Amino acid sequence: STAGPVALRGPTLTFTGDPFQIGDQAAMRYEPDGLVLMENGKVSAAGGYQELRTQLRSHEFVHYPDALILPGFIDTHVHYPQTQIIGAYGSQLIEWLNKYTFVAEQQFASAEHSSAVADIFLRECLRAGTTAAAVYCTVHPESVEAFFHAAQQRGMRMIAGKVLMDRNAPPPLTDTAQRGYDESEALIARWHGKGRLSYAVTPRFAPTSTPAQLEAAAALWKKHAGTYMQTHLAETLQENEWVKSLFPERSGYLDVYAHYGLTGPRSIFGHSLHLAEDEWRHLADSGSAVAHCPSSNGFLGSGLFDFARARQPQAPQRPIRTGLATDVGGGTTLSMLRTMGEAYKIGQFGGYSLSAPKAFYLATRGAAQALYLEDKIGSIEPGMDADLLVLNLKSTPLIDFRMKHCDTLEEAMFVQMIMADDRATQAVYVAGQLAYQD
Ligand code: GUN
Ligand code: ZN
Repeated sequence: STAGPVALRGPTLTFTGDPFQIGDQAAMRYEPDGLVLMENGKVSAAGGYQELRTQLRSHEFVHYPDALILPGFIDTHVHYPQTQIIGAYGSQLIEWLNKYTFVAEQQFASAEHSSAVADIFLRECLRAGTTAAAVYCTVHPESVEAFFHAAQQRGMRMIAGKVLMDRNAPPPLTDTAQRGYDESEALIARWHGKGRLSYAVTPRFAPTSTPAQLEAAAALWKKHAGTYMQTHLAETLQENEWVKSLFPERSGYLDVYAHYGLTGPRSIFGHSLHLAEDEWRHLADSGSAVAHCPSSNGFLGSGLFDFARARQPQAPQRPIRTGLATDVGGGTTLSMLRTMGEAYKIGQFGGYSLSAPKAFYLATRGAAQALYLEDKIGSIEPGMDADLLVLNLKSTPLIDFRMKHCDTLEEAMFVQMIMADDRATQAVYVAGQLAYQD
């Protein structure tokens, strides 16, 4: 495609508010015949085709009459080096880390291997309709260089960082508090704020960092404005016990992170399953975000995410910033549609039936809000980055047949999140330019 302005016509769906707070209907804006104008990487106008057609000029015009134009999906927690171990049989978290993850991650000492996997990962993100993500690399700076370079080539908005581990991991995967700080800071200088890229200080989780490393991570995060902090929290009960034995003086798992200064705006806590009430409250009060990883939680048998506590708590408790996430390779798919379907099933086990609008919100505008990026991505509005997904609503013969029996938009959205996957990605636009086409 050209580098000029592009116009997309077709059914368009975006969120203008939070369906958990104001209700599904009030939070959604649907245009059955919409027009999205994109220029210089941004959305310049969005609305009904009939109202906006007079603004069409030299735009390259594409019509998707049978599709659904959405904001690109956002994956708030994913490990690109684990692309090569998706679907590894037979164990729960800690054994899975030792048996598969910590073996695979050692290969990322190689810049060539890192580049090859980063390319495959980003290609598959686009194939799944994901245009932005918060990504774990490995302990090796080479793995971060390769990832940011690959993301930059594609013009994608990516948050990523070098994993910090200075204990309880194989020696080839460990750094030290000082070395981890220095290597991360050099990567921040090279990549943070460059184009659409942001850095995340990434202590893997409390069991693999000494107090000195957690302290250093917090100092680095505080020193560099706009950087993120990502880690894992309360994924399994066994992990909670381990943290208790490593940090006996702390009142709970989240208190370890809070004590060292690792909670607050732009912190992202993967999983957040086995939490006490005071921990939920601290997440809300501190402006921290959680990344819900349903396919991973099911695959590793980790537990059930509490949607109601996170997003619709009893007043005066406040909702937690929450995004959906794949957590590949603990997660089994890079598709956010598949992830929404898994989130629904996890909710069902806990007696919470996640509606389609709420699920789509958690993969778009809600995820952007969790990342403090709601002014840039996650919805289709003038001034927002032009990252768009064109969803084919008839991606398999069975879905095509099922869709003929849908009476409402919500029903159609629900069928898509339960049945569809990356085959439904008809086209993806990144910063206003075609980046993937089926
Ligand atoms: N906890 C610490 N590291 C990891 C990881 O790589 N994947 C998952 N799912 N949980 C973790
Ligand atoms: Zn993870």
